[in-house]
Parts: sequence; C-alpha cells; structure tokens
Amino acid sequence: MRPVSGRRFPQRTGLDFTGEAVALGPAATGPAVGDRIWGIMPRTSGFGAAEYVAVRPRQLGRIPKGLDVVEAAALPAGTTAITALRDKARLRPGERLLVRGAAGGVGHVAVQLGKAMGAHVTGLARADNLGPVHRLGADEAYDYRATDPADAGGYDVFLDTMGKDFEAHRRLPGPAGRMETIAFDVERPVGSLGYLLASAAHGRRRVRFFSGNPRTALFNDLAAHVADGAIRPVVDTVSPLEEIGAAHRALEAGGVRGKFVVRVD
Ligand SMILES: NC(=O)c1ccc[n+]([C@@H]2O[C@H](COP(=O)([O-])OP(=O)(O)OC[C@H]3O[C@@H](n4cnc5c(N)ncnc54)[C@H](OP(=O)(O)O)[C@@H]3O)[C@@H](O)[C@H]2O)c1
Repeated sequence: MRPVSGRRFPQRTGLDFTGEAVALGPAATGPAVGDRIWGIMPRTSGFGAAEYVAVRPRQLGRIPKGLDVVEAAALPAGTTAITALRDKARLRPGERLLVRGAAGGVGHVAVQLGKAMGAHVTGLARADNLGPVHRLGADEAYDYRATDPADAGGYDVFLDTMGKDFEAHRRLPGPAGRMETIAFDVERPVGSLGYLLASAAHGRRRVRFFSGNPRTALFNDLAAHVADGAIRPVVDTVSPLEEIGAAHRALEAGGVRGKFVVRVD
C-alpha cells in the first residue's frame, strides 16, 4: 500500500464528512454559508477527520431535513451503494440480491436500498449481527462464518464489500448475474487488483470493481431516499476526534453495526 498511502506517519484519515458550510470560494455555486452539508473528500486531495475541510461544491450536497450531522455522517457511503446497485448492477424488482458485509458501513445501506428497489435481499454478516440485518429489511441473513453462501440459493446480483476470495464467490450469481465489488484485498493488493483486471476475460461473469467519486446529483439521490424513508442511518459509536485511533482499532476488531462516527466539536 506504500505507493498509495505513502510512508510517512502519522497519517490523516477519514473521507466522509458532514458539517456546516462556513465560507465559499469566489466562484462557488451551490450551498450557501450556514447550510448543513455532506460529502466525501477526493481520495487524492484530503482527509475528512478535521475541523475544516476545503472541497469543491460539486462534491457535496445538502443534508436532508430530519437528520442531524452525526446521523448524516453515517450515510455518505450510501452513494456507493446507489452506484453499485442502481448504476452498475442495474438491480431490478424481484431479483435476488446478496450483500456480503451487510451490517457494515456500505452494506447496511445496500440492504435497505435493495429492498426499496424491490429485490429479495440476503445479507451475510457475523452471527450477532443477523438480527440487526433483518431489522434493516433483509429477507434472509446468514452467518458468513458458518454458512457456505452457495447453499443459500442463486443470486442475480452479488455486492461484495470484502475484496477477498473472489474466485470462490464469482459463480454465486447465475449465468445472467452480476458481481460487483467495492474493495480489494489490502494484504495482497497487487494480486487482488490483478485478479480484478484479469476477470474481464470471464465476460458477464467477471467481477466488476469501481471506486466511487460521488457528485452533488448522487448526494441528492441519497437525500431523496432518506426523505422517503427508504434509507435510515445506523450509527454504531460516536467518538471524539482525540479518540480516533481507538475508534479505528475498534472498527478493525470487527462487529461494526453501521458506521463509526468521529465527532469534531
Ligand atoms: N469503492 C468504493 O467506492 C468504496 C466506497 C466505500 C467503501 N469502500 C471499501 O469497501 C470496504 C467496506 O467498507 P465498509 O465501510 O462497508 O466496511 P465495514 O463497515 O468495516 O464493514 C465490513 C463488513 O464486512 C463484514 N465481513 C468481514 N468479513 C466478512 C466475510 N468473510 N464475509 C462477509 N462479511 C464479512 C464485517 O463483519 P464483522 O466485522 O461483523 O465480522 C463488516 O460488517 C472497505 O474496504 C472500504 O474501504 C469502497
């Protein structure tokens, strides 16, 4: 990961952010000073765990009414779920959707969105998160450590949030199925990304990877799903900025329900 992350530590973290617009550039259009906004920092130009961030207006949107900034901070990754299911997989009503990592930051939105799009949704999560995944609306939920997902039936769309074991999962969707992944294996990035590139040779059965770079229109779509009640945030834990290291360690230990939120007072 050194070519991506650099070698110098400590490093800043955090991409998703919420807050209030406090100043506008001279040519900025869109939000006004005082608007409550949400966005995702460009991966190459900054990190969101900070008191202030500078970002192009096209990369943020207004937080919908009914969410406070902490709740809203659990949702910007929902833009990834929308891109995966609506734009990449083109999920259709009645199709069977499998979400791997269904209790996590992206997965908890994907489960809700899949239901809102009329799919039959199955979630994979650890045993003590099966109840929460059902409460998000999943029709079925299985413990990934005790279940061979192949036993749970065929799928039209498989959304992977792990970036591992692609070959074992590639045939889960049927011949007309689609497999989308949003992650690669950070412990073996070259092999993992190489697999994704090579999988193009499998045509329809390839594993498709994308990296989101959401713009205002996508944040507006997310806000509309919140406004019509289809998507609600799940906040696992709120930590002060001073404890961000402990928050990262807790996330790495596993078992997350929704999102960890870091609060900057
Ligand atoms: N491409 C993009 O645009 C994009 C956007 C957002 C995020 N991402 C990436 O996507 C990945 C997921 O992000 P996230 O925020 O959803 O992470 P997260 O909140 O940590 O969730 C990951 C989930 O996967 C579960 N899990 C772990 N091993 C599993 C397995 N073998 N089978 C099924 N589920 C398993 C975890 O469950 P337990 O811990 O409970 O076991 C956890 O619920 C990260 O690598 C992130 O960097 C990419």
